[in-house]
Formats: sequence, C-alpha cells, structure tokens
Amino acid sequence: MPGAIYAEGLVKTFGDVRALDGVDLDVPEGTVLGLLGPNGAGKTTAVRCLTTLLTPDSGRAFVAGIDVLKHPNEVRRSIGLSGQFAAVDEYLTGRENLQMVGQLYEMRAKEAKIRAGELLERFHLADAADRPSKTYSGGMRRRLDLAAALVVSPPVMFMDEPTTGLDPRNRQGLWEVIQELVAGGTTLLLTTQYLEEADHLAHDICVVDHGRVIARGTADQLKAQTGGERVEVVVHEPAHIAAAGEILAGFGKGEATVDRHTRKLTVPVTGGAKLLAEVIRELDARGIEIDDIGLRRPTLDDVFISLTGHMAEATDTDEEKEATP
Ligand SMILES: Nc1ncnc2c1ncn2[C@@H]1O[C@H](COP(=O)(O)OP(=O)(O)O)[C@@H](O)[C@H]1O
Ligand SMILES: [Mg+2]
Repeated sequence: MPGAIYAEGLVKTFGDVRALDGVDLDVPEGTVLGLLGPNGAGKTTAVRCLTTLLTPDSGRAFVAGIDVLKHPNEVRRSIGLSGQFAAVDEYLTGRENLQMVGQLYEMRAKEAKIRAGELLERFHLADAADRPSKTYSGGMRRRLDLAAALVVSPPVMFMDEPTTGLDPRNRQGLWEVIQELVAGGTTLLLTTQYLEEADHLAHDICVVDHGRVIARGTADQLKAQTGGERVEVVVHEPAHIAAAGEILAGFGKGEATVDRHTRKLTVPVTGGAKLLAEVIRELDARGIEIDDIGLRRPTLDDVFISLTGHMAEATDTDEEKEATP
C-alpha cells in the first residue's frame, strides 16, 4: 500500500537543468516528511509536481491515493498548499480574508470566524486583524498566507519552506500549528533548508541535492550513518595521553584518535551516557586527571556536510524585517 504521498522516478528538466533526476518518495499517512536540501536542490520543483502545478517529464505520483497525472482536479481537492493564497484580497482585513477562505470551503460562518480568530492569534496578527491586509508588512502577509492555508485541514498538506524568513517567534507558532495538524491525522510534506526544523518536525527526512535523494531515514538514522556518537576526553597531563588512549580503545568501537596539541582523545562508541560514566570511573581509578569529557552526538549539520560536502546555507537575507513591538 503506497503512502498518502507517493512518487516514483520523478524527472523534471528545465533546458539543461535536471531539477528532478529520478525522485522516489513514500510518505505514510499521518506522518511528516521533511525534504531537506540547499537552494536549487529541486525541493520546489518536487512540490510543484506533486501538487499538479507542474507536469513531470517522467515518473508517477499519487497523492491521497489519486494519480496526480491522470486526475489533477481530484488531487487539488484533497490537498492544501501554502503559498497558494498569495492572492489574498488586499482590500479585505486579515480576519475577513481568513473567514472568506473558510466559507469557500463551506465552513459554517460561526466556525470560520472561530478558526480565523485562532489563526490570527497563532501568527501574532490579532492586533492587525481588522486592518486591510494591504497595510501589512511583507512578513505579516507571509503569515496571513500561511494562516489561509491552514483554515481547513486537508488530508494532505504541502508546505514549501514555510518558515524561511519568519522570525523565531513566528517559526515556533507555525511549528505548533503543524504538530496539531499532524496529530489530527494530516500527512505533510514540508521542505526546508533548516536542519533543526527537519529534526524537530519530520518523522522521516529525505536529503536532496541536485535533484536526487541522497539519503533518507529518521533524523536518528541519518545521524547514526554519519558515524554515531563519540566520547571526547581532554586529559590534564600530556603524559597520560597514551594510558587514556588504551582505556578509551577498550570501551570504544575502534581506535581513539588523539590531538596531542589539545590533549583531546576521541573514540566512537555505542552505549551513551551509561558508558560515559564507566569511562569516567575507569580514568579516575587509574589516576588520570581530566579537564573535560563529553558524549558528542552528530548533529544533522554533520550529516549534511558528510553527505553533500558543503554546509546547508540558510538564506538569512530575506529574514523578516519588521519592527517588533
Ligand atoms: N521554471 C524554471 N525554469 C528554469 N529553471 C528552473 C525553473 N524552476 C526551477 N529551475 C531550476 O531547477 C533547479 C531546482 O530548483 P528548485 O526546485 O526551485 O530548487 P529548491 O526549491 O530546492 O531551491 C534549480 O537549478 C533551478 O534554477
Ligand atoms: Mg524552493
């Protein structure tokens, strides 16, 4: 049984650029897939193909069990897409815009009003709710657009970099809304350049680069692929480096690497905090004084660098520039 979002061999070219170079996806119902990748990786193209806005050159896709290429109209009725309401009515207030969306989706007027109020609060637009949206700043419009996409909770949602350019407070607000949506059974595909966001929200992560999925798994699985956890010890006396190295090798999965200059020894381990305690006891029993010891887990940043050979670059340039009250 394919998941609520399913794609097989999606290819999309723009002239010489292979924006999608054979992408496979399978997102189980009620889960969040994080499509993580740098600028130009193909994230938006994937979302546009899955939401019927672009036709792939080849491949197949199903959303909510419906064939995207054969029945695009039916697919459109089953999905929500943030960015879709970029054409919010400038002359209506924020509140009126949201209520109108609710009514378009045949919500009762009272229900639409309640939902609009909730979303305005959530996205810190309550103070501006009754002003025409043409008076809103760029960041406020962006939040209104996200709110509009969330008025109804469709079975499958797509969000293309929903928090790029939001300030931390509004990013947090959106994370909460997303978690509620998913708790209510919605399946979500979310693209992001923020590793932290994928780590926090996504059940599964696909790392994309140059139109290909270069790794997939849970955040923990991806981190484990990158070498797993390590114990790092800084010994006080250079003369103790060799003895400490033997002890660490005994606990570790391999040789300890040594940086003599900083007196730091590192060894890959499995066993977490319990093992760390044992290492400390053993070092102590052998009279080896330490300046520092810690368990270091790879972060998604480490994963990204090891997979792509470069850092994920979050574009901070379009960070929300509004005077905060
Ligand atoms: N309409 C288009 N015409 C030409 N090239 C495009 C078009 N849309 C995307 N591309 C190219 O396809 C690649 C993937 O773009 P995109 O899917 O927007 O990546 P992302 O969303 O991950 O930043 C990029 O090289 C981009 O320049
Ligand atoms: Mg994009």
